Amino acid sequence: MASTTAFLKGQAAIVTGGGSGINFSFVKLLVESGVNVLIADIALYPSTKTWLESHNPDETGSRVEYLQTDVRDWSQLERTFDVCIAQFGKCPDIVVPGAGVFDLPKNAFWEDVDKDGHYNLLDVNLVHPIKMTRLAIKHMLEAKKAKGDKPGICGTIVHVSSIAAQTPALLIPLYSASKSGVNSFVRSMANLQDVCGIRVVGVAPGMTSTPLMVDDPVTLSLFDPERDTLLPPEELARAMLSLVVDTDKYAAGTILEVCDTEGRWREVSNLNDPGPQGPGSTISGGKDIAYGIFKTLGVGPKI
Ligand SMILES: NC(=O)c1ccc[n+]([C@@H]2O[C@H](COP(=O)([O-])OP(=O)(O)OC[C@H]3O[C@@H](n4cnc5c(N)ncnc54)[C@H](O)[C@@H]3O)[C@@H](O)[C@H]2O)c1
Repeated sequence: MASTTAFLKGQAAIVTGGGSGINFSFVKLLVESGVNVLIADIALYPSTKTWLESHNPDETGSRVEYLQTDVRDWSQLERTFDVCIAQFGKCPDIVVPGAGVFDLPKNAFWEDVDKDGHYNLLDVNLVHPIKMTRLAIKHMLEAKKAKGDKPGICGTIVHVSSIAAQTPALLIPLYSASKSGVNSFVRSMANLQDVCGIRVVGVAPGMTSTPLMVDDPVTLSLFDPERDTLLPPEELARAMLSLVVDTDKYAAGTILEVCDTEGRWREVSNLNDPGPQGPGSTISGGKDIAYGIFKTLGVGPKI
């Protein structure tokens, strides 16, 4: 980790959704590596609040600030960059548009929620990462110019996709669509590294033990403890850090699947990919939810 810390020390990061789960684990890893971090989240999970209150920048050498942010709002996304610059004296070197929500327990598609022309899930999971990337590119290029337009990497944007991009399902149609969109978007940005030094990459977590997955009993029912594995969020954080620092190993545009522990990660190919692999890739529950959907459709109970 010594060389990683040397690489990252003094950098600044904005992490949306950093108040909980996978993104919070990444926040902690960044802080341990000497990065000043702005958490932009609509709320902090109670244990994150406790951690933040006890965090001592003199011990870690890094600062952490929290800005209450609704990622669906463009002006609030813009503000995260202003606050990062004001607090840490620099444009972010790392941006993670990680905030996300899930179709369950309230299934916006099947239960006809969000009838006013847009789906909340798509606003959070797909539109916000796209907007955040646009803002990050603008700010990173301004900072690069101000420093004399030197060659090399001037910023990294780490998206948080999902294996659901490759395992679309009737139970989670909006979620699967949003994460497929994220994969496509990340790949669309691959050439940006050669063009102007901005690296856009993504991680695709398998089933991970976070509040999104375990706090709601309906969502948790997707997980069959006899057959499925919930991954620790710290494994995801390590993969995200590797995407930032291992620039020779992972090309821009990489989607790195994490369905296993101890660094057994897999790059997802754009074409002819075998699909998610490893213990965290299976979801064996959810049959009752499927029956509920069939009932809504007025069709038979068989799957
Ligand atoms: N947990 C899993 O199994 C899993 C699997 C694949 C992908 N993911 C993805 O990982 C990312 C993190 O999820 P997690 O599992 O850690 O869940 P989580 O619920 O612990 O974290 C999600 C965070 O997003 C924030 N958020 C939601 N809506 C917001 C809004 N409008 N504005 C600002 N912040 C908002 C929440 O407050 C929360 O802190 C998400 O993008 C999720 O889709 C999770």
